[in-house]
Amino acid sequence: MTDCLGDGAGDMTPMDLYEKLTSQGDTVRTLKTEKAAKADIDAAVQLLLKLKVDYKQVTGQDYKTGCPPSECVVSQDNGPAADGEDMVDPWNVSTTNAKGVDYDKLIGQRGKHNGVSYAVTLCCLSFSRDMHQVLDAYEKNKSFYLYTGRGPSSDALHMGHLIPFIFTKWLQDTFDIPLVIQLTDDEKYLWKDLSLEDCHRYTMENAKDIIACGFDINKTFIFSDLDYMGASPDFYRNVVKVQKHVTFNQVKGIFGFGDSDCIGKIAFPAIQAAPSFSSSFPQIFKGRKDVQCLIPCAIDQDPYFRMTRDVAPRIGYPKPALLHSTFFPALQGAQTKMSASDANSSIFLTDTPKQIKNKVNKHAFSGGKDTVEEHRKYGGNPDVDVSFMYLTFFLEDDEQLEKIRQDYASGALLTGELKKRLIETLQPMITSHQERRKQVTEETVKQFMTPRPLNYSF
Ligand code: TYM
Repeated sequence: MTDCLGDGAGDMTPMDLYEKLTSQGDTVRTLKTEKAAKADIDAAVQLLLKLKVDYKQVTGQDYKTGCPPSECVVSQDNGPAADGEDMVDPWNVSTTNAKGVDYDKLIGQRGKHNGVSYAVTLCCLSFSRDMHQVLDAYEKNKSFYLYTGRGPSSDALHMGHLIPFIFTKWLQDTFDIPLVIQLTDDEKYLWKDLSLEDCHRYTMENAKDIIACGFDINKTFIFSDLDYMGASPDFYRNVVKVQKHVTFNQVKGIFGFGDSDCIGKIAFPAIQAAPSFSSSFPQIFKGRKDVQCLIPCAIDQDPYFRMTRDVAPRIGYPKPALLHSTFFPALQGAQTKMSASDANSSIFLTDTPKQIKNKVNKHAFSGGKDTVEEHRKYGGNPDVDVSFMYLTFFLEDDEQLEKIRQDYASGALLTGELKKRLIETLQPMITSHQERRKQVTEETVKQFMTPRPLNYSF
């Protein structure tokens, strides 16, 4: 275990040490839960204590879970269940709090770098890891690239899936940088009761939805793991490097794998890690290993990238930076995740205007009062009202949004009226997405998915 974690503070930054300590905490917890041999537990605890001493030396602060070194923009790297109320991992995002996951509590501290304040205005950013470094480098004319992805488990994406893609497109337009999009058909085959053929077919269908978000074909490479893994020796080499430098104990600690999980699942996190390294795409980066990667995604993907950031320096690569968008709640309320298997839990990109209207009217959790009289007298609660939450994502006019909030809270605006507002916002959005999707031909999909140089010289 120690050979993988390394043990010297050396020239590590406070944040490196913080992350290493948190990951070592995960390891100790896993060993204890699994009642591992006492000698193994003692060795892991010793390393944890040593890291705590190093941390104190370097930062002058005591290590506390959830409190990153004070000047940093990033967050706690706890295991999947971050605290008593919130449960966040790649397969579950749930909370007992009606306002949704408490990101401040979960991750310790909100991203504060001035450079990302523009993104916060998109209303969907919850926090970042190392974004300040990316922006500092960008100001010095150092390029970076974007990496995001989708696990194609069904024909249709829901609105939540769209959030990181809208955000990624905005980043690509703003910074004019290459983008790689991983479609993890292998992941879905390993996790779901689906055939390889189904997963690959969903990949091609989902690619159309992603392309319909407006990505520039000259700047974007979309790939299916099932195809690219065999086509790119450099990609596979990076997968194997990650696999060699992450132990079973570490992935158990991070992902909660058990003895009955198939070995494909245990090896998979390395496949999601590999696109974070520019040498996985020699056709784009001409073999360069040092191009910084920025990953927009939601918090459910964080476990993969905590692992990736931990392993990166040990295999000689820069750590990817992360930008996390806030989790889009299920119609039934912020306590649960939208689920593709429950058609009423979310609005899908395939929904008709009528379905959108019915779903919002029937299922969107309301923060309003039981009767019109009570609502007019006491007002509604926009903080738990799903229609209002959705509007915060999609209504571009902040002043209008604020007015809606105030009117709802005062009782001037009724639940039915608020829902109508949401329906009128969503219907044209989804319809125009469907129209753009129709324009995406098989040939266009093929072009996006062909390994090739992009419009950049590296
Ligand atoms: P998947 O298909 O579950 O989700 C695709 C993207 O959507 C985000 N997401 C959400 N964002 C806001 N609100 C929601 N309710 C919501 N549900 C999902 C996810 O965080 C993700 O960004 N293993 C991944 C695929 C993947 C990937 C990546 C994702 C491979 N490499 C790199 C992001 C970055 C998956 O199954 O995503």
